[in-house]
Amino acid sequence: MLKVQTIFADPLALERDALMVALWEGEKFAGTSAKIDRKLNGQLGKLREWGEVKGKLGEVTVVHTLGLMTPKRVVLVGLGKAEEIDAEKVRRAIGNAVKTLNRISCQFVSIAIDTFPQNKISASDLGRAIAEGAILANYRYLRKSDNSEAPTLESLELVAASKRAVAETEKGVQLGTVMANATNFARNLVNAPASEMTPIALAEQAKAVAEKHGLRCEVYDENWIEQVGMGALRAVSLGSNQPPRFIVLHYEGEENAQKIGLVGKGITFDSGGLCLKTAEGMLEMKGDMAGAAAVIAAMDAIGQLKPKINVIGCVPATENMPSGSAFKPGDILKTFSGKTVEVINTDAEGRLILADAIVYAKRQGASLILDAATLTGAAIIALGPVCTGAFGNDENLVQEVIRAGKIAGEPIWAMPMHQEYRDLIRSDFADIKNTGGRPGGAITAAWFIGEFVGDTPWVHLDIAPTFWSERESHYFAKGATGVMVRTFIQFVLSRSI
Ligand code: BES
Ligand code: MN
Ligand code: ZN
Repeated sequence: MLKVQTIFADPLALERDALMVALWEGEKFAGTSAKIDRKLNGQLGKLREWGEVKGKLGEVTVVHTLGLMTPKRVVLVGLGKAEEIDAEKVRRAIGNAVKTLNRISCQFVSIAIDTFPQNKISASDLGRAIAEGAILANYRYLRKSDNSEAPTLESLELVAASKRAVAETEKGVQLGTVMANATNFARNLVNAPASEMTPIALAEQAKAVAEKHGLRCEVYDENWIEQVGMGALRAVSLGSNQPPRFIVLHYEGEENAQKIGLVGKGITFDSGGLCLKTAEGMLEMKGDMAGAAAVIAAMDAIGQLKPKINVIGCVPATENMPSGSAFKPGDILKTFSGKTVEVINTDAEGRLILADAIVYAKRQGASLILDAATLTGAAIIALGPVCTGAFGNDENLVQEVIRAGKIAGEPIWAMPMHQEYRDLIRSDFADIKNTGGRPGGAITAAWFIGEFVGDTPWVHLDIAPTFWSERESHYFAKGATGVMVRTFIQFVLSRSI
């Protein structure tokens, strides 16, 4: 695990595999960069003159110091135009640089933070963004029998220009470290094969989080689920040999504060059930518990950060499998709320289990609810691989969640929730049916959940577009992204009293 910390030192005197400096489009070298340029006999200036380095965002250039300086290499990290700097650009630039550092097997690296414009981004925001970008980019899920592709980077020191800057920067580094490690924890849960990350295994992970930070954790089994009347969760679980679990994590930080409910879809494998998916459609479905992973990982961070607020995390966990005992199209389910549901398609299982979990969170006293779920292919079609879709019953809360996402570096887009979409899931036989056809599929799915939420302020986050990265880029590896972990944490911190 990469260790990030802030120190006060002369960066040119540190014996490290590399010293990173920020490079800005169209700006002269200043501070540490100017000193390096002098030590290297003007080599940096020449690279710029020759057009070999431009300082564009994402550009990474390795310069070998050939004994002219104590650090073995200088790594120029392009960040674009200085006046356009923001935290996400820093995360991405550092992410790119960290991937290069790993490619050339660096272990111990420093970064001169006087090379960032001090007046455009606060010391703590900068520390946070650097820590997040580095730790997120240093993640790989590897199960190869040799270690050849494993990240080599072990330590990153942010070298502050003054003793005074150390404390502020380090505050951001600490927060960023918690945020990024929680995200990587969620990534591990999502990347783990479904045959390993079963509902029982997921519950064990939640218990481990609770033990680490003194949270209360309750894990309920299939008998409890049946007895209390969670008929929707039970129905989805019936086709599987893996017993379901209903997982609850309580964080109690302040008696007099509100209780936020975080709910995550925990389908540990979605085959589609009797409405079976294609082989291709099933491939990423070990990740159909990415919402659950976001909740459990956010609770891990919240347990460490100890904000003055209360949070209940609820995870309905089950497989969705076809078998002789599986639930069937045409079935009519009685949900935990008492409302009945006509099953049109067994592959629309996520909204079923969320309905029961959200009603549970409400009964436990949650005064607002955020849910994250890999809910619909339709959201992928609508938003592509960039934005998470936000749906809700409270415009201000939707905007608040979008703002938290922006600070966290997780883009979220608000989707329309006009009443007319509700008509598409009217059932002839039950209170509601579980699909409304392909048009507007992400919205009708949200409306289905909303039916169980009632008046409690609520935002549903459809992470089907963003839970998985098809390619490696900036601080993403191929596979799980850990999306919504940082937004959840950011939101909870912002609500802390
Ligand atoms: N887990 C899937 C949605 C999904 C698909 C997430 C691809 C991530 C990537 C969900 O359970 C599902 O199967 N949804 C169906 C609903 C349909 C049957 C109404 C879908 O989107 O096709
Ligand atoms: Mn499904
Ligand atoms: Zn699913």
